[in-house]
Amino acid sequence: MRLPRSVREADVGGTTVLVRADLNVPLEDGEVADDTRIRAALPTLELLLGRGAAHVRVCSHLGRPQGEDPALTMEPVRARLSELLPDERIEVLENTRFQPGETKNDPEFAQQLVEGCDLFVNDAFGSAHRAHASTVGVADLLPAYAGLLLLAELEHLGRLLGDVERPFLLVTGGAKVEDKLGVLQNLGGRADEVIVGGKMAEELRDENPLPFEVVLPTDVVAASEFAETAQTQIAPFDGLPDGWLGLDVGPDSRADFARRIRAAKTVFWNGPMGVFEWEPFAGGTKAVAEAVADVDGYTVVGGGDSVRAVNELGLDERISWVSTGGGASLELLEGKELPGVVVIPEAA
Ligand code: 3PG
Ligand code: MG
Repeated sequence: MRLPRSVREADVGGTTVLVRADLNVPLEDGEVADDTRIRAALPTLELLLGRGAAHVRVCSHLGRPQGEDPALTMEPVRARLSELLPDERIEVLENTRFQPGETKNDPEFAQQLVEGCDLFVNDAFGSAHRAHASTVGVADLLPAYAGLLLLAELEHLGRLLGDVERPFLLVTGGAKVEDKLGVLQNLGGRADEVIVGGKMAEELRDENPLPFEVVLPTDVVAASEFAETAQTQIAPFDGLPDGWLGLDVGPDSRADFARRIRAAKTVFWNGPMGVFEWEPFAGGTKAVAEAVADVDGYTVVGGGDSVRAVNELGLDERISWVSTGGGASLELLEGKELPGVVVIPEAA
């Protein structure tokens, strides 16, 4: 895989550096609910400060605002970042998506962003699949380098695209098959087994468009309605009672999936096995997360929900790489080039 040149190669002493980070974090009651992405941005910022950058101007989008939206200001992010890394040389710009030019990759907005800056460092792996002004436009205007997180993500995820130790398992779930079909096609064909749970399993039950077999659940936790307090019963995967919904994989499936996962040497997991935000339907995702953590080999978890599950269960330390990218990690594993990466000159 082509690797972009690293911020380590940049001469940053005395300069003003524009950093694009992915600080698109979940908010709750006006505060940062999960600061994983902010913490993941720290090594690059620390490197720049440690090497004597005069100013570090950090920018990111937050959510998907239509114009300026007080609910999506960067203020809570700014506050959290200054707790984690207090340094007056750091400035956090306002949500890039408040400007309509951001998502259009408008050169005028890119020009505004680079005003007074000497270098650009893109560390926003999670946004590298977006060709926006702050990820791509600015890289045409300033000498551009890849940040440490961006490089680490490319190296770790890239490992899955090369020769891997086998058995190699792909475990996938979540709601939308369309979002993951590309990865299933590109990676699934090279995997020894593909395990599918969650809503996705239902979509593949009657017709599997993939050119290989997948391992599906055998039983599900059926719910009388889509609610945390619904009545539940265990039902066969292909025998859901009329009007009931499958909201998690059942105990037999969990045992089967966990046994297969524990025997693997390389695992990529993306997407929960059920509605894990609700305790009665969290067991399948929990079983998969624990099995992945137990693997004696190389394990990668990507995508917002599975990463959240791993973090909530306190298993992140036992996973080889927990990706900060959702869509970006999927596109990379689909074999696509990421516009935010391509625009940075290649490493020497
Ligand atoms: C993400 O959270 O997936 C990234 O920050 C990209 O956000 P987007 O999907 O709104 O472009
Ligand atoms: Mg996304």
